[in-house]
Amino acid sequence: MAMDAFSKSLMQDKREIVIAPTIYKFSNFGDFAEEFKLGERDVVLTNEFIYKPFMEELGLKSQFVFQEKFGAGEPSEAMIETMYEAIPYESYDRVIAVGGGAIMDLCKLLGCKRPASVHELYFKREPVVHEKEVIAIPTTCGTGSEVTNISVAIVKDEKDGKLTGGETKLGLVSDDIIPNKVCLIPDLLKTLPYRPFASSAIDALIHATESFLSPHRKTTTSEMFSVKAMEMILEGFRRIGENGPDARLDYLDEYVTASLYAGVAFLKAGCATVHGMSFPLGGTYHVPHGESNYALFGKILEIYDEKNPDGEIMRFKELIARITGCEVKDAIPYLNGLLEKVLPLKPLHEYGFKEEDIKGFAESVEANQQRLITNSYITPWTKDLSERVYRECF
Ligand SMILES: NC(=O)c1ccc[n+]([C@@H]2O[C@H](COP(=O)([O-])OP(=O)(O)OC[C@H]3O[C@@H](n4cnc5c(N)ncnc54)[C@H](O)[C@@H]3O)[C@@H](O)[C@H]2O)c1
Ligand SMILES: [Fe+2]
Repeated sequence: MAMDAFSKSLMQDKREIVIAPTIYKFSNFGDFAEEFKLGERDVVLTNEFIYKPFMEELGLKSQFVFQEKFGAGEPSEAMIETMYEAIPYESYDRVIAVGGGAIMDLCKLLGCKRPASVHELYFKREPVVHEKEVIAIPTTCGTGSEVTNISVAIVKDEKDGKLTGGETKLGLVSDDIIPNKVCLIPDLLKTLPYRPFASSAIDALIHATESFLSPHRKTTTSEMFSVKAMEMILEGFRRIGENGPDARLDYLDEYVTASLYAGVAFLKAGCATVHGMSFPLGGTYHVPHGESNYALFGKILEIYDEKNPDGEIMRFKELIARITGCEVKDAIPYLNGLLEKVLPLKPLHEYGFKEEDIKGFAESVEANQQRLITNSYITPWTKDLSERVYRECF
């Protein structure tokens, strides 16, 4: 399939790097609230289990809203509509997102003029109009959503303009939804349980990797952010491999900072095949974002290496070898082995994936995920290659 006009316009973007928000770091939520003078006209979207330990005792007057009120899991058309009803547009001037990627993606929409239809917004048939200040505070260390121009949601799938009856994940992309400010507060990650911690950190590593290998859009500056993020995350994974899950706890600042760096990298260079292929998996079987990426990552790297071992992936292998001390020729299996220690890999069928999905998902990727697939290290990334990945990960 030919490259769509949107992907083409991204390729022509001459900016070396995009870091739109001002970035702050605080040691706790109270210091942030004081600096930003949180008040009645602020809406804080978070989870109750983050509010209770970190915010309740501060007695702030802001409007605290809990994401779980709108339904479980990742943002969907229905969840966004419920959120719009629960938080009237006139009731706030500033939006504060305190949570994982899902909350940050929802808050990006709260900062924009309300569309007549969420579905039409995600299919780019309604414009994105940014109107209110958004402050993003990540409490996972994965998505980088705090610095990106993307808001991801599970939407009703379309093919040739008609609803297919299924669902898929789509990214709404616009520089107008990049948060205005980012506050890193590593303290907030202390309560993040190990599994979502690990899958979000692997997601950040995948952002850094896909950006590093992105053939058309990477720049020298985006590469610098990718490399730094990989160094920090792989050092953290080495510690977990040696000392177990609790080794993350005195390294949370590095994880949350590295995930921001990886976000900066992929905002410029783009995510690619791993994300494109994981979207139908996440959309259909509600596999958490980091886990669905992880399920495909190792296999896609192996295929990249098989098809073109001496291109940019050679520099990637050299980088992994330098950071971890393994041999260059073993870099990909070594990396996959290290990740296995952080989070054991599951085959796709354990998430509910069925044999007939191999073809169906490959078609959905071809039809809906061109903005990601065009950044593949192997171009063109064909439907046959997608089928092969799904089959070999089955
Ligand atoms: N906009 C982007 O650039 C971008 C990029 C990648 C992914 N995403 C989206 O982000 C979402 C995934 O984000 P995520 O991996 O951060 O997962 P998440 O937001 O779903 O959070 C993971 C889980 O951890 C819990 N949690 C988060 N912080 C916690 C804390 N401090 N203490 C206790 N529990 C905590 C959440 O409630 C949730 O159950 C997906 O919806 C994905 O599509 C967006
Ligand atoms: Fe991601």
